[in-house]
Amino acid sequence: MDIFSIEGPVKLSGGLRVSGSKNATLPIMAATLLAPGRSVIKQSPRLADIAVMALLLKGLGAEVNREDNGDIAIDTSNIDNPVGEYDIVRRMRASICILGPLLARCGRAEVSMPGGCAIGDRPVDIHIRGLTELGAKIHLDNGNIVAVAPNGLTGKRIFLGGPFGSTVLGTANILSAATLAKGRTIIESAACEPEITDLANCLNEMGAKISGIGSPRLVIDGVDRLSGVEYKVIGDRIEAGTFMVAAAITSGRLELTNCDVEAMSAVVDCLERIGVDIEATEDGCIVSRSGELKTADITTQPYPGFPTDLQAQLMALLALADGNSVITEKIFPDRFMHVAEMNRMAARLRKEGPSVIVAGVDKLIAAPVMASDLRASAALVLAGLAAEGTTVVNRVYHIDRGYERIERKLNAVGAKITRKRQ
Ligand code: EPU
Repeated sequence: MDIFSIEGPVKLSGGLRVSGSKNATLPIMAATLLAPGRSVIKQSPRLADIAVMALLLKGLGAEVNREDNGDIAIDTSNIDNPVGEYDIVRRMRASICILGPLLARCGRAEVSMPGGCAIGDRPVDIHIRGLTELGAKIHLDNGNIVAVAPNGLTGKRIFLGGPFGSTVLGTANILSAATLAKGRTIIESAACEPEITDLANCLNEMGAKISGIGSPRLVIDGVDRLSGVEYKVIGDRIEAGTFMVAAAITSGRLELTNCDVEAMSAVVDCLERIGVDIEATEDGCIVSRSGELKTADITTQPYPGFPTDLQAQLMALLALADGNSVITEKIFPDRFMHVAEMNRMAARLRKEGPSVIVAGVDKLIAAPVMASDLRASAALVLAGLAAEGTTVVNRVYHIDRGYERIERKLNAVGAKITRKRQ
């Protein structure tokens, strides 16, 4: 298992190119199941989660190859085993996003039910409800979700809201499946995340008829078939936000490219309010900080609100602000595994239900810490950049799931991170 040894404090400076979006690439890879033939996904990031999705698609009968230029080529001509195996699905919850495309393509799909997760309960009841509304018969068998629709799916008006807002991958599943359903599907309370917009744009390039893209009301007119596509995914707004915090926490200056600042209004607004300068450029932004960090009260929300996937990273930053802040988690109320670890680095964080009271400190002090999930781990790396001494982050494989060689990127702009095998 790899660990990171991080020397701090450092001041980052230079340019970073943001990679393609993990959470856009995953459902788009799954959506290639809808179009028999060859699709190419450009700018797909080299990440552990992408490799798991490739493995999953291969298990169904697809050919998946990473080209030298980084593109992923997927040939879905022969999908002869519509079963997402437990051994693969248990490694990544996002495997659930093959359910809708596979069902629409084959009239049958069997996907192992995702289990527990470090960021809290993550049910898939809304995915199942939506596909059932489209006419699928679904039952659980030996821990597997078995969905059948031998006569195809039929369009319908479907409300996809849940107790914590809409569902991103649930929307991806229903949207993808509805492209091949008979008649019109209207999804109300669809997730509006840019990754869903990217999926919808990609599906339209494959021949789907989706309108209302980017809004909570998606209208899908079913078509008989989709065709393979060459599609470039968007830049990763969560990686971009993580680098913004890296610039801010080190009082540095980073120029980010391949980053759509307009899709990050809540993050930009929050960072500017706490004293971070963000200047938009043609292809990204310049992020810098020279003064003290101010406090903020932030609540995570579905898009366009502040993303839960940047909550932990923001907490690392606010841990160094001048006073008390409150961070409230409205998407995954238990997503606070990083709190105890950051406190080991002399942060003063106190959990109160779905909120954390962040009492700002003058400095963080290095310590050995444990990565628990992807974003919590990224937050510990950020804290390590600012902390005095050598921070050791254990279980780096969590970070490798969602950040393309983060240590190489950060070292290129002044970080001192060493990856070691233990
Ligand atoms: N929910 C239900 N029932 C469902 C589905 C979701 O109650 O059937 C609840 C969840 O428990 C949660 C809320 O709805 O409280 C939103 O969850 P959502 O379904 O939107 O999450 P997801 O689609 O499983 C994606 C991202 C996550 C990101 C969330 C929220 C991917 C691969 N994953 O998950 O990303 O945190 O949306 O924005 O796109 C990450 O990249 O680190 C990550 C966890």
